[in-house]
Amino acid sequence: MTKILITEFINQNSLDNLKKKFDLKYDEELYKNKLELENIIHDYEGLIVRNKTQVNSDVLKKAKELKFIGRLGVGLDNIDTEYCKNKNIHVQPATGMNAESVAEYVVSSSMSLIKKIPIFHNGTIKGEWPRTSIKSKEINQKFLGLIGFGTIGKKVAEYCSKNGLKILAYDPYIKEIINEKIYAKLSSLNEIYEKSDIISIHLPLTNETKNIINKSSFLQMKNKPIIINTSRGGIINESDLIDAYYENIISGFALDVFENEPIESEFYSKIKPGMNCILTPHISGVTTESNIRVSDFIVKKITNFFN
Ligand SMILES: NC(=O)c1ccc[n+]([C@@H]2O[C@H](COP(=O)([O-])OP(=O)(O)OC[C@H]3O[C@@H](n4cnc5c(N)ncnc54)[C@H](O)[C@@H]3O)[C@@H](O)[C@H]2O)c1
Repeated sequence: MTKILITEFINQNSLDNLKKKFDLKYDEELYKNKLELENIIHDYEGLIVRNKTQVNSDVLKKAKELKFIGRLGVGLDNIDTEYCKNKNIHVQPATGMNAESVAEYVVSSSMSLIKKIPIFHNGTIKGEWPRTSIKSKEINQKFLGLIGFGTIGKKVAEYCSKNGLKILAYDPYIKEIINEKIYAKLSSLNEIYEKSDIISIHLPLTNETKNIINKSSFLQMKNKPIIINTSRGGIINESDLIDAYYENIISGFALDVFENEPIESEFYSKIKPGMNCILTPHISGVTTESNIRVSDFIVKKITNFFN
């Protein structure tokens, strides 16, 4: 029987299905134990991970039998894909399976931040009743700038154009928008910075995108936008983002991803109650529904691969 190793959580039904077909080791905490992973990986032909397991060359060098890596999610920055390509190891992301969840997060956090809900909430629970001292806005007819216009960027555009937002999209790898359901204008980064009221990032983390949103980007922003990052920490320079907030260049931010996860104290110490911000622990793609879709998708792919 083909041996499969799973190092992070997976939906129970999918796990039960896998158990019928494969010789399985499931340890949802194994991603924390780099040494143990390196010690046992030589036994396995299949590996299933989320984004916490570092599948780097140290691990892959020892993975003599490995033929398939299933990624319960989308970004592949925790996997050395170049090494896998050279060794003919198939890497399978669950493309699109959590896009709906991430898009809903972008819409809900944009709405909350433009309405200054975090500030109203903080004032109200402190007994201040800040009814007139804080000015909130409507989302209708505002400009939404999307940086990265792949599966999730397009899904966000579809939702938001139905809610009256005007969409600008930057993605140099897309030459035209052919889906009629999506109303967006392909734009330069500069146009996005100048016009947007909300900017949402949907890029993979690569050498090209690392730190792509930095001090000079913030300095080009004219409308005190809200910044949403659900893609990867490190794409936005976090320190420059916080400076831009304190300097009133941006009016709020939602971060679901961070350069270091869990957040380290150096970053956390800059976050104060009453800021117009939402911080979440890398959950925008993880909902009950997406967990089922993502897990079922990878089970189907690994089963077909080894059949
Ligand atoms: N927080 C979460 O829970 C969560 C969940 C899913 C995905 N993600 C992240 O979101 C990212 C986007 O997901 P997706 O499904 O839309 O991926 P995707 O591959 O469908 O789209 C990414 C887009 O970015 C574009 N791109 C690449 N390099 C670029 C650059 N330098 N400048 C501008 N555009 C560039 C690509 O052309 C592509 O269209 C993933 O890579 C992943 O890291 C996070």
